[in-house]
Amino acid sequence: MPLREGPMVTIEQVARRARVSVATVSRVLNKTGYVSPDKVESVMEAVEALGYLPSAVARNLRRSETTSIGLIVPDNSNSFFAEIARGVEDVCFQEGYRVFLCNSDENPDKEYHYCQSLISQQAAGVIFITTGQGSDALQLLIERKVPVVQVDRELPDVATDVILADNHGGAYQATRHLLDLGHRRIACLSGPTFRTTITQRLAGYRDALTERGITPDPVLLYNSGDARFETGFTAAPALLSLPDPPTAVLSFNDLMAIGFMHYATETGLAVPAQLSVVGFDDVRLARFVSPALTTVAQPKYEMGRQAADLLLRRIRGEDGPPVRRVLEVSLVVRNSTAPPVQRQRKSAGD
Ligand code: RIB
Repeated sequence: MPLREGPMVTIEQVARRARVSVATVSRVLNKTGYVSPDKVESVMEAVEALGYLPSAVARNLRRSETTSIGLIVPDNSNSFFAEIARGVEDVCFQEGYRVFLCNSDENPDKEYHYCQSLISQQAAGVIFITTGQGSDALQLLIERKVPVVQVDRELPDVATDVILADNHGGAYQATRHLLDLGHRRIACLSGPTFRTTITQRLAGYRDALTERGITPDPVLLYNSGDARFETGFTAAPALLSLPDPPTAVLSFNDLMAIGFMHYATETGLAVPAQLSVVGFDDVRLARFVSPALTTVAQPKYEMGRQAADLLLRRIRGEDGPPVRRVLEVSLVVRNSTAPPVQRQRKSAGD
């Protein structure tokens, strides 16, 4: 398939050739409103003859399908989602589909808006990473019978295909790693508990602690509103100034972990000599920060690849009950963790 089409034919040229109004051409191509069969035929003949390409919608109208795939992500500036998108796009492009990236910005209204747009553009299917704040957007796609695959996070009350990573297992492994090094005061940079990724990771963190007879201390749990570098940087002084500060931090994503480490470095706290830090995701940056970040590697590309493969099979008519897959994660030990040094416990007056 040529990557670049010829000079763009305009909708006005189509209307002139078909001897109808531009509005009629638009109604035919977008299937909005009645148009007499003879006019539909004239429009489609003109579209075909002129090679009009308003979008994938017009080109594939006869086959009553489009080759557009919507991919809704919560934060396109976070390379975690970019690496998922890479897996999606590789599969879709190979199969003659085009991916349209929609950034919901962790905003459910924007998420809903994009779903409306994808429906009006007759997207063939949608890969959906929810903000976690309500299922209106996802329900809208379901009602309009748009094939959907959820990835990474899920809305459990909506039955769709789902491709996840083992969030519980990842947080459990990371916490066990720090416990095995000798840490007992392990802080956690968490996130909003309306996200399934967060609740599952919290359970893994807590299970690892309680297995070792440690009662999770709520003061060591920092609940961030978002998962960005700045949040980790802001969390650091809050946790490090505690009377009995943590000797290690488990962050539920790499960006916050890197922000936390940056604060430590800026204030002369040596990582890992004086403080151990573990992240989650293993984005490509994680190995290039200094010290290289120990983190939980999520199979990002594979999550995207499998989601796209599953979605295209649904688009092509493959039926059957919803598929639910939980892909394995792995702890990648680099240079940001080490055994704790014995620090003087601060007295309340300090
Ligand atoms: O970095 C973004 C985080 O939110 C990741 O851990 C991913 O699981 C997403 O849900």
